[in-house]
Amino acid sequence: MNIDTQLEKSIIAAGQEQVLKYWNELDEQGQKQLAGQLENINFSELSRLIPEYVTSRPKTAIPDDLAPAPYFPMEPADSKQAELYAKAEARGTELLKSGRVCFLTVAGGQGTRLGFDGPKGTYPIGPVTGRTLFAYFAQNILRASKKYQVKFTWYIMTSLLNNQATTSFFAENNYFGLDKDQVFFFTQGTMPAIGYDGKLLLGAKDSLSLSPDGHGGTLLALRKSGALERMTAEGTDIISYFQVDNPLIKMTNPLFIGLHDLENAEMSAVMLAKTGPYEKLGNFCVSQGRLNIIEYSDLPKELAEQTDENGKLAYIAGSPAMHLISRDFIGRLTAGNELKLPWHRADKKIPYLNENGELVTPAEPNGVKLESFIFDALPLAERTMVLECDRDEVFAPTKNPTGVDSVESCRAMLIERDARRLERAGVKVARNADGSVNAKIEISPALVLDDEDAAALVKAENISEISPEDTVVFE
Ligand code: UTP
Repeated sequence: MNIDTQLEKSIIAAGQEQVLKYWNELDEQGQKQLAGQLENINFSELSRLIPEYVTSRPKTAIPDDLAPAPYFPMEPADSKQAELYAKAEARGTELLKSGRVCFLTVAGGQGTRLGFDGPKGTYPIGPVTGRTLFAYFAQNILRASKKYQVKFTWYIMTSLLNNQATTSFFAENNYFGLDKDQVFFFTQGTMPAIGYDGKLLLGAKDSLSLSPDGHGGTLLALRKSGALERMTAEGTDIISYFQVDNPLIKMTNPLFIGLHDLENAEMSAVMLAKTGPYEKLGNFCVSQGRLNIIEYSDLPKELAEQTDENGKLAYIAGSPAMHLISRDFIGRLTAGNELKLPWHRADKKIPYLNENGELVTPAEPNGVKLESFIFDALPLAERTMVLECDRDEVFAPTKNPTGVDSVESCRAMLIERDARRLERAGVKVARNADGSVNAKIEISPALVLDDEDAAALVKAENISEISPEDTVVFE
């Protein structure tokens, strides 16, 4: 078959004819695949992006009026705020019970740092049972569905690269006890990888090198997939958004949900107090009255290290990427089936076909992937809300196999969280001299969502003590 002439013209006009180098060698299926990929590319936009992001390095301008963002503290500051928090908790609980909340997991990433063969959500993170990340969330939702008497819908964003493996995993595991129709998979868009010379890379003779377009792709993908329509039909208008690598997520946090609603926020965010000026979390800032996040790598040293009169970091508020997003806000942003969020450049080692048509896996970065980020929607919101949360209770990201933000640290945090829940319910848990738990504990999220559930479990199972070196699973 011949390539569409219009398409060919725009490829040539953009100086990207190398993508057609093997066209005549391809069978019809290969030609169809490649043509399909090329049709999805806006070549004139690409010609604008390449000089801006690839052949030169984009500079993040730090606005002159940048200031640390205000936030609601973890503990209410005074009695008036305590009253507001109590009201918000009640409101959040009511919203959960009324079925206005749904859940959204972004699981389209490639998880390169973890180096795990398969979708990240299928990683066996459970410290004792090897329960997978997806199972943690699913069982959490199961418990929430019972507690709030609502059949919650769970939206899961995959990418073209892992959609098949993800959906098969759910089918093989019987949706972890959820009804099949409670889970809505949708696939995000892709972006072609670009070599440092500004040329699109081929991953095979019949394929560009494509990668997911970043978690910012979620918003448009929600519209294009029909997810927004389903939310409207089901009457859900608050989306609890979280990442696939954090099994500690408190996706049904009544205080967070209630404050989001009482503050009339279009998009809200959880903030954690950073462990130091250079912790790898985005920084909550304000400029021109709008909330925004400046990446850790972009915050100038003098701002990162700036302290207030008490010696506390001025830019203390870090983002663990947990949000509440209103459905109408997404509807507004994506009206006309378009959304222009800024692009971010990531330098990567991208396998590519060389001059001789051989696949090369480079040892050093050889090109750029462009991604958009969900947090770039924050400044587009008319109203926002930020709530401080306790890191130990909500955030254990699994980015690396070992070290910081790793499988190891995540498992330890899961054990500590479950131990604290038992302790608050009156159980004596064996601890080491350094204070860490001296036992392996895993409580099924299908049993315990919060302290109230933990107290009920302790009572029902008559648990009084976890002895040193014990391995205990509550399933
Ligand atoms: P990360 O930034 O940690 O990227 O994604 P990653 O792809 O999972 O891991 P690395 O950087 O390759 O090691 C944060 C969250 O955003 C999702 C990921 O699945 C994860 O839940 N994500 C990221 C997407 O859904 N799509 C994307 O294009 C990128």
